[in-house]
Amino acid sequence: MPSNSENIRDYINEKKNEILLGRLTSDDFQKFFKENTQTVQTLFTYSECAMMEVETKFRVLNEEFMLVYDHSPIETIKTRLKSMHSLVEKLNRYHLPLTLESIKENINDIAGVRIICSFPEDIYALAECFLRQDDITLISSKDYIKNPKKNGYRSLHLIISVPIFLEHEKRDMKVEVQFRTIAMDFWASLEHKIRYKKDLPPELADELYDELLECALLSTDLDLRMQSIRTRLDDTGLYASPHFGANL
Ligand code: GTP
Ligand code: MG
Repeated sequence: MPSNSENIRDYINEKKNEILLGRLTSDDFQKFFKENTQTVQTLFTYSECAMMEVETKFRVLNEEFMLVYDHSPIETIKTRLKSMHSLVEKLNRYHLPLTLESIKENINDIAGVRIICSFPEDIYALAECFLRQDDITLISSKDYIKNPKKNGYRSLHLIISVPIFLEHEKRDMKVEVQFRTIAMDFWASLEHKIRYKKDLPPELADELYDELLECALLSTDLDLRMQSIRTRLDDTGLYASPHFGANL
């Protein structure tokens, strides 16, 4: 227990916050969102605009690669806005206070864009072109392709900010961009399904996770072999593809 009065006040506030967070339910959040409808709505709408900007940037890059290399690096682009439910869950999981400032500062993935490529090399080529654009600011990156998670998860994650142009101003908004190969995405979708399957007997869950880890290794091997086939094909000069570095 702290001794001086300022520290005591901080201590009480901290405890009040902990208690509040401990019992925060979706009802509490609904109340918060009702009271802040306009601002929350604005934040989500601006995030959606930033998501559209990023999606367009990748569509443009895909077209450009088609022109230059006669090969489209992107198989699919998926976009999603975070649901209120998942926002609530994340604030609770990280014991974050329920304020607009806290949401703006700590939640970087209200807007999410997923880029699915066939080959790992295309991921780095696209990420590099994207990050070179002078209106994109890299906030952080996690390379789970070079350093896969313990469960086998692979993907390249970037948190970036991009300006959106409004009636009277320009606003920088954050977007999470995930890059995966088809194999990485296939694996992650199944892992996600298993992770959220409630009431799975623990023994079966362990078995499935072991099997998934094995599949992650197989899919890494598959990606590398497919990449190598393409490289050998490139070397014939009949099928050109870009060769960028991976300096993220
Ligand atoms: P979140 O709080 O879940 O957003 O994670 P984080 O802030 O620690 O960031 P990280 O970059 O590790 O993960 C961001 C997102 O990547 C997650 O929301 C998932 O979409 C995806 N992801 C990360 N790890 C895994 C995983 O092990 N399996 C699957 N299927 N997806 C994952
Ligand atoms: Mg997330």
